[in-house]
Amino acid sequence: MNDAHSGIVKAVIPAAGLGTRFLPATKATPKEMLPVVDKPAIQYVVEEAVNAGLTDVLMITGRNKRALEDHFDRNYELEDALRRKGDHDRLSRVEESTELAALHYVRQGDPRGLGHAVLCAQPHVGDEPFVVLLGDDLIDPRDPLLTRMAEVRQEYGGSVVALMEVDPDQVHLYGCAAVKPTADDDVVKITDLVEKPAHGEAPSNHAVIGRYVLDPAVFDVLRTTEPGRGGEIQLTDALRRLTENETLGGPVHGVIFRGRRYDTGDRGDYLRAIVRLACEREDLGPDFRAWLKQLVAEGL
Ligand code: UTP
Repeated sequence: MNDAHSGIVKAVIPAAGLGTRFLPATKATPKEMLPVVDKPAIQYVVEEAVNAGLTDVLMITGRNKRALEDHFDRNYELEDALRRKGDHDRLSRVEESTELAALHYVRQGDPRGLGHAVLCAQPHVGDEPFVVLLGDDLIDPRDPLLTRMAEVRQEYGGSVVALMEVDPDQVHLYGCAAVKPTADDDVVKITDLVEKPAHGEAPSNHAVIGRYVLDPAVFDVLRTTEPGRGGEIQLTDALRRLTENETLGGPVHGVIFRGRRYDTGDRGDYLRAIVRLACEREDLGPDFRAWLKQLVAEGL
């Protein structure tokens, strides 16, 4: 990563989920390809990985992998048409996604859960620490998170997850961590993890968000992790086993992220993310904000 000493170069982006919350939009298109303003969500995530110095990106894809591969591949016909029109702006926007990083793909087959998707990365990742990024969470490039997480792994060893303090009545939507403070204000030691805890059973309001720096020991643990919530092999369950028995490849620490994050995993939050990002855009923002103000003034 940016810090030459962290030695982490590989990013894994699981994109094989069914995306049922967005049906029917995700019937033939992966959720990760849904546009956030004018770029598919996954491109923001690949850009984040690249900006953190990760040069090798593996996508775990499923039945709808074509759209993902095509997006990061050349489209000669389109490029040629834009070139002939002299539309260099759009041409460079089309070429941008092709030139980002060395991209690799592996297929998950059955979507048996996030933990299983991560396990599919083992032949590519091998025995190296690696980063996992979920397309549901967009992290604002002005608030870099991955570099800090890699530093924390260097300092404490083991694996590192990103946490956010959320409203207690929202925590049931996330993986939730029981935590102990460390000498660093933004770092906690994780002592337990629960995937989507029932109301009143959350150990804290520290929610796991979709960025992980993982020790390769997690693969052995995942291989013997039974299906959990929803009948799926949960990454949270494998990480919990690492917290219970550090000799397996622990410890697990959390970096508390206090920056800007946009949740695109559910429809309401997805719409909020688009409105916020559109408002902030230099090209679209001024007109869009004026329209939005008027809409609100009209008493919607
Ligand atoms: P989610 O839990 O959000 O599931 O997955 P989902 O299928 O994508 O969406 P919903 O809940 O049905 O609407 C979190 C991340 O893990 C990936 C998804 O693509 C998403 O990036 N994932 C999940 C896999 O790659 N494989 C799986 O088997 C499950």
